[in-house]
Amino acid sequence: MKVLLTGGTGYIGSHTAIELLKLGYEVEIMDNLFNSKITVLDRIEEIAGVKPKFYKVDLLDKEGMDKMFAEGGYDLVIHFAGLKAVGESVEKPLKYYENNVGGTINLLECMKKYGVNKIVFSSSATVYGDQGVAELTEEMQTGVGITNPYGETKHVIEEILKDVAEAEPEFEATILRYFNPVGAHPSGLIGEDPNDIPNNLMPIIMKVSTGEIEKLKVYGNDYDTVDGTGVRDYIHVVDLAKGHVAAIEKMKPGISIFNLGTGKGTSVLEMVAAFEKASGEKLPYEIVGRRAGDLAEIYANPGKAEKELSWKTELTIEDAMNDTINYLKHLKEK
Ligand code: WQD
Repeated sequence: MKVLLTGGTGYIGSHTAIELLKLGYEVEIMDNLFNSKITVLDRIEEIAGVKPKFYKVDLLDKEGMDKMFAEGGYDLVIHFAGLKAVGESVEKPLKYYENNVGGTINLLECMKKYGVNKIVFSSSATVYGDQGVAELTEEMQTGVGITNPYGETKHVIEEILKDVAEAEPEFEATILRYFNPVGAHPSGLIGEDPNDIPNNLMPIIMKVSTGEIEKLKVYGNDYDTVDGTGVRDYIHVVDLAKGHVAAIEKMKPGISIFNLGTGKGTSVLEMVAAFEKASGEKLPYEIVGRRAGDLAEIYANPGKAEKELSWKTELTIEDAMNDTINYLKHLKEK
């Protein structure tokens, strides 16, 4: 099976490429390299023994995408490409709607023109908004109380996929709602290495540990949680990548939706402690005020993916921290 990964040199895309290549899938990658580096292709080759064909194409470049699909002969697309900085999306909503939603429409039109009727979409738990409960399941209503345009774009794209599936009986779309991806490939050769200023907890912890950022600001310790700090469901990126393989092996007509998470919550201070245990060093942090839009506690109910995809997470927070430390060591040696 020939698979196109949009955004495939990114954090989750590159780890997914490796899992697919290990299983003998034919993989091609499209990316605009806005938030990733082309050298990731060499790392993928070092790990998986194959260097995927690469197209430097932007989702808004209709001509470039058309040429790629004309040559590609893809059976399926895994759609990772998209802007994902929550804070930036609040300042620049039109940029996020144009790129994420407009770009996805371009992609879907290209797929239709070239007879590619299978897509796996990289969605996010953020589409649940505030459900008033911590544990999230796929049948919950989405799109209510989403606190940022980034999350809204993910929700709108889910609705577009549902409507296309209604209109086209042979269309197969699997929506994967990620919780909080962390960790790195055990080889230490790839990991989270954003070009932009990170928003997320782990890339910030990484930059604090390398000294690029002075200290971690813990956004609030007055939540009704185990220790007052925010609780999230942190999933190892390799488990997440394997979830994509499980999903494409079980594609079917219509819309399928799955949470990809561990089913367990971990607090910010528990993440700090886990990182300190793995690194053997104290991590400087300061408790500050809450971040606008943050929820106290959310985590996945991953039961549907376990039942229907025969997939569940196997790696732990400790594994994620050890793999992150190992990746940082490799980055330093470069
Ligand atoms: C996690 C916890 C913060 C940074 C977002 C998106 C979601 C997905 C993951 C892409 C929270 C706390 C964080 C910091 C902190 N993105 N924190 N200090 O907000 O759960 O989810 O990223 O798919 O769609 O919404 O992730 O990593 O930003 O925050 O205290 O400097 O860490 O308050 O409790 P979040 P996060």
